[in-house]
Amino acid sequence: EGVAPIRAALLKWYSTVHASRNMPWRKPFDLTLNREERAQRAYEVWISEIMLQQTQVATVIPYYNRWMEKYPTIRDLAGASIDQVNSLWKGLGYYSRASRLLVGAQKAVAEYAGRLPDNAKDMQSKIPGIGRYSAGAICSIAYGENVPVLDGNVNRLLSRFLALHAPPKAKTTLDILWNAAGAMVQNLASIEYPGDVNQALIELGSTVCKVRDPDCASCPLRPWCAAHATPMPVSDIEDLCT
Ligand code: ADE
Repeated sequence: EGVAPIRAALLKWYSTVHASRNMPWRKPFDLTLNREERAQRAYEVWISEIMLQQTQVATVIPYYNRWMEKYPTIRDLAGASIDQVNSLWKGLGYYSRASRLLVGAQKAVAEYAGRLPDNAKDMQSKIPGIGRYSAGAICSIAYGENVPVLDGNVNRLLSRFLALHAPPKAKTTLDILWNAAGAMVQNLASIEYPGDVNQALIELGSTVCKVRDPDCASCPLRPWCAAHATPMPVSDIEDLCT
């Protein structure tokens, strides 16, 4: 399979960076966790992913820690009031994210025994506020499901990698990018975890393949990158990918 060496380079890069960045929601994927423990991981990853949607990692960390102190489980969240949840969210912005977490938790408790569904298809169709990105992130990271993620960072990274030269939000472009992201989490070796692949892509996109001044010199994917192979002014790349 053509993507195996690319993924290997990505994961090698991630294993070095990952160790040096500590994020409280990030834990090594653990095959020995039972069903309850995996659902608890899904809850933690869900909270972190929703907080991270429009907010930087450094800002999110203290909010995440306070949240987990107050609502350590999805049942604790489901029993909260919207005012309590909003006050914990104060300063993060986009308050609809907080109310969607509350509604999602209430539904998971009422209808799914307090366990977020263990696959992206059900999670996306059954839990309000969870879209394709969040379902992919949560299910790959917490449950080890081979499903992709495509957020703004991964969109830009893959658009450059493939030198797509296409409008980044058009339906046909998104289909191509979701397929490319999907290929990255297919046919994994037994020591490769889809949650690591996805987090590596997100992190590479946000820290190296940045909107401005992409740091191609330190990119593990440079040998395969079509944008790098075809010299193009950075300003043009930005125009295509933002
Ligand atoms: N941004 C969104 N999801 C993330 C994750 N899992 N790790 C780091 N940054 C992220």
